[in-house]
Amino acid sequence: MPSPRQLLGLLSIIPYISAQFTYSFPDCTSAPLSGNGICDTTQDAVTRARALIEQLTTEELIANTGNTSPGVPRLGIPPYQWWSEALHGVAGSPGVTFTPSGNFSSATSFPQPILMSATFDDPLIKQVASVISTEARAFNNFGKAGLDFFTPNINGFRDPRWGRGQETPGEDAYRTSQYVFNLVQGLQGGIDPKPYFKVGADCKHFAAYDLENWNGLNRMSYNAIVSTQDLAEYYLPQFQSCVRDAKVASVMCSYNAVNGVPSCANGYLLQSILRDYWGFGEDRWVTSDCDAIDNIMNGHSFTATLPEAAGVAMNAGTDVDCGSTYPNNLQAALNQSLATVAQIQQALTRQYASLVRLGYFDPAEIQPYRQLTDADVNTPQAQQLAYQAAVEGITLLKNDGTLPLKKSIQKLALIGPWANATNQMQGNYQGTAPFLISPLAAAVDAGFDVNFQEGTGISSDDTSGFAAAVAAAQEADAVIYAGGIDDSIEAEGNDRTLITWPGNQLNLISQLAATNKPLVVVQFGGGQVDDTDIKSNNQVNAIIWGGYPGQSGGKALVDIIRGAVAPAGRLTTTQYPASYISLPMTDMSLRPSATSPGRTYKWYNGTAIYEFGHGLHYTTFKPSWRSGPSKSYDIASLVKKASTPTDLATFDTFTIDIQNTGHVTSDYVALLFISGNGGPTPHPNKQLVAFTRLHNINGQKKSTASLPVTLGSIARTDENGNLWIYPGTYTLTLDTPGTLSASFKLEGNAVQISSFPQNS
Ligand SMILES: *[C@@H]1O[C@H](CO)[C@@H](O)[C@H](O)[C@H]1NC(C)=O
Ligand SMILES: *[C@@H]1O[C@H](CO)[C@@H](O)[C@H](O)[C@H]1NC(C)=O
Ligand SMILES: *[C@@H]1O[C@H](CO)[C@@H](O)[C@H](O)[C@H]1NC(C)=O
Ligand SMILES: *[C@@H]1O[C@H](CO)[C@@H](O)[C@H](O)[C@H]1NC(C)=O
Repeated sequence: MPSPRQLLGLLSIIPYISAQFTYSFPDCTSAPLSGNGICDTTQDAVTRARALIEQLTTEELIANTGNTSPGVPRLGIPPYQWWSEALHGVAGSPGVTFTPSGNFSSATSFPQPILMSATFDDPLIKQVASVISTEARAFNNFGKAGLDFFTPNINGFRDPRWGRGQETPGEDAYRTSQYVFNLVQGLQGGIDPKPYFKVGADCKHFAAYDLENWNGLNRMSYNAIVSTQDLAEYYLPQFQSCVRDAKVASVMCSYNAVNGVPSCANGYLLQSILRDYWGFGEDRWVTSDCDAIDNIMNGHSFTATLPEAAGVAMNAGTDVDCGSTYPNNLQAALNQSLATVAQIQQALTRQYASLVRLGYFDPAEIQPYRQLTDADVNTPQAQQLAYQAAVEGITLLKNDGTLPLKKSIQKLALIGPWANATNQMQGNYQGTAPFLISPLAAAVDAGFDVNFQEGTGISSDDTSGFAAAVAAAQEADAVIYAGGIDDSIEAEGNDRTLITWPGNQLNLISQLAATNKPLVVVQFGGGQVDDTDIKSNNQVNAIIWGGYPGQSGGKALVDIIRGAVAPAGRLTTTQYPASYISLPMTDMSLRPSATSPGRTYKWYNGTAIYEFGHGLHYTTFKPSWRSGPSKSYDIASLVKKASTPTDLATFDTFTIDIQNTGHVTSDYVALLFISGNGGPTPHPNKQLVAFTRLHNINGQKKSTASLPVTLGSIARTDENGNLWIYPGTYTLTLDTPGTLSASFKLEGNAVQISSFPQNS
């Protein structure tokens, strides 16, 4: 039987239009709630929630432990759905209802995170999240959504086959940490905002979840074997950023087990790391992934019975069961002394304290977000932002000068399975968009004379469309091939088995190339495919990575192709050669070894087809140091003057002038990497330590990038997961391939700057 989540996967291809959940707000002004401690606005959230929860009978407590809470009618507590989604816009989910037409029938649909992350523009990420939370609140005010959204997905895109990599900000823990720090602020309305959260975000999936279904292994029963070093260095930093620094409202424990213990039963993760080390407070809660508690028994065979599964999850600190294992089994767990009433009270207190912080119990008149209406959904500014996010994320991988297309080019052959993409451009966890501009519609709108031929499907071996496609190319001034992969092959529950272009697309592209017309290949999809053939084929003049660009994706793409705007996105994943798949997906280690070439740009020791950070422009840039590193730094004094937490303290801030030496106005993403010989071997190839996106640098003008680097960024992780600053010679390098570099020394003894909790 499909789990609710699998069902969601199936249903996600159909927009949610039927009414699913009826919300109402509790009424603190009249009986039975008036006078109840939960309504006492002079008290803090946890005190208020505790006053309510203490009044619940054991039966009432247990009934409210699932994601679909029936509430407590006796006390005036309405039903509540804890599960809404908003990955890149308010999205179809059990807690969200799109009406068939009129108000609340759509919401702004931004690009998938994998493309938004490629903008390297975190002020933009915060703005996008702020629009999403505004629209979410408007939906909530009219009973069309909850206040808690199971977003974002911040697991590292560790392996290019992962079916859900499209939902993430990419392969790098540092880039993802910055993304989530900004995104959560946009969703929640700031860092731990007072008096009210805008909406509650949820960082998922905690932890080391990045395998769907590979070689007969299923995410529901997968046991990830992860070293403490890799856990601290790669799998957890983005969660630390989300929990400790951005102060997210909730965290989702994952389906998989980590080192033998299912995540939702894992006290090391949920207590020692999340609550004790990162300070996840009593007004914050942990939800299971949907059916993950059931899977403690039915997937992992970690317990023999469901009451035992409920007991171990409750003991570990999983507060909400997205599913029904808690409501159905906690009474038996209590009877068998596998859990206590006090634990269930604590879990519900955490949840309701969070709802207090969302203003759920307070008068609407005193709350700004309660005034939002349909007029605040799909605003012109929001539509413009969705377009801008797509423009900024789309990444130019190859160009021999064919792009931007010359003004003389009028007749376009637009070919391929993405050429008329509409819904495809949204990717998964999508809502109903107000409109979807396909590449075809955008090209026609831009005034091109377009001959559209699908040519082939994504995974097809049917060549019957080739002749028409080649004929269209022969008659055109230029050819745009739009293909790649989509979420019919990279999907929740499904990992790819190959990272080559699927079906006969490369065959069609080579026939198009043979026409000798200017040919631009647009590679869509979240995961990279091996572009070796088209990269080395001189008759393929340009390659663009289009990701899942959202509602205005076609327009963003066509505007880049015709030069109305200039590309400046950068890949957030490594494009590996096809042979990379000989590495088992289950090998969770990052460092290269006798059996692994290593993972991500930081450790991969082979040759990437396109590197993490790669991205071309329509102009040229020349960087120069305005303020580079000192010759040397004394480690002890750096640490002595550091603020806490030490890993976030500033090491130094570097400034670099970026001169646009060409004639096209363009953005530029400044990526600063560090490499060096300090600390244990092997040393990473390099590590991203700072980035910023400069906007609209005119030809022959310059702009200055300010790049603050933290102590955590120059530190390395030891085998126990502790951060150290090690003496040695280090080099800062701008961009990839490097265009500017400078070396410095760290001197003195190594100093430890963090103590990672050990799993005893
Ligand atoms: C729990 O114990 C009570 C009291 O013995 C009993 O009435 C009830 O049926 C038990 N419930 C479950 C689910 O075991
Ligand atoms: C739709 O929302 C607008 C505000 O944007 C409001 O003026 C109008 O009354 C709403 N229509 C309906 C049918 O509720
Ligand atoms: C393009 O897609 C749209 C939306 O799916 C469809 O209505 C239209 O017929 C398609 N155009 C062509 C030329 O196939
Ligand atoms: C990658 O590293 C491993 C382990 O050190 C080594 O065995 C292998 O030869 C290296 N490969 C390359 C291409 O350097």
